[in-house]
Amino acid sequence: METGKTTARNSHYTGIHMKKYKPLVQATEAEHAAMVRDIFSTITSGYDVMNRLVSIRRDVAWRRFAIKKISLSRKKLFLDVGTGTGDLAIEVAVHHPHACVVAFDLSGKMIDFARKKIEKRRLSGKIQLARADALAIPFRSNTFDAAGIAFGIRNIPDRIAVLKEMMRVIVPGGEIAVLEMGLPEAPLLRRPYLVYLNRVIPLVASLFSQNPDAYYYLGDSIANFPRPKDFLELMSDAGLENGRFYPLFQGIAHLFMACKPKRGI
Ligand SMILES: C[S@@+](CC[C@H](N)C(=O)[O-])C[C@H]1O[C@@H](n2cnc3c(N)ncnc32)[C@H](O)[C@@H]1O
Repeated sequence: METGKTTARNSHYTGIHMKKYKPLVQATEAEHAAMVRDIFSTITSGYDVMNRLVSIRRDVAWRRFAIKKISLSRKKLFLDVGTGTGDLAIEVAVHHPHACVVAFDLSGKMIDFARKKIEKRRLSGKIQLARADALAIPFRSNTFDAAGIAFGIRNIPDRIAVLKEMMRVIVPGGEIAVLEMGLPEAPLLRRPYLVYLNRVIPLVASLFSQNPDAYYYLGDSIANFPRPKDFLELMSDAGLENGRFYPLFQGIAHLFMACKPKRGI
């Protein structure tokens, strides 16, 4: 059974030469967490450009799809976990004008960057930012109407603990959305996509990122993320109900949705 911790899903990835970061199959959870801290405090300024380039702007469409799936018309307080440069929080604030957003990240540099973007978009009145850890969310139980994490859970080894924390802070019946990268199941697509992940993206990163080695980690972490049905099982193990997923762009990403039970937690 899937434990929620990093597992070797694709052994062909073990040979990757990652100059600065260990392949995940060789890293302990503590080493994985340390890599993540290092990576996200060193790629901040090129992060948005890289996202838009390597996903051909699909990342924007995927976040938009995610927030459309959460029926925020009746949901007013939204929590964005691992907000990074604030894109999911901004999408919620722009497309659901009645909603208020609290967004947090472990990286102070990401939060500083997000703050500037949010001020520029004149959304500071609608989005509160904080520096915090998804493994110990500093809010009371049953506070938020819904919570989301976009491209973040892959980077946290103890995924079940994150899901439990997100579930704790939302109201009973509230929804959780997890947007995450994946690998296409079809072999005909998977092979070229692996070449794209392992060869093309690091090349692009060498031009646009301050820490190109971080983009070897990207491919490695995607390859080691659980398959969709295993991740759904993990959501259920965390106590969430009505789990479902939506493949995006042939499975290059997935949106997972689930609810906190109405009673009993
Ligand atoms: C790939 S970025 C995603 C950022 C953003 N959500 C987006 O849609 O682009 C992952 C983010 O998760 C943050 N992160 C990693 N571990 C975390 C933790 N334990 N608690 C909170 N944030 C964390 C990183 O600092 C990083 O900003």
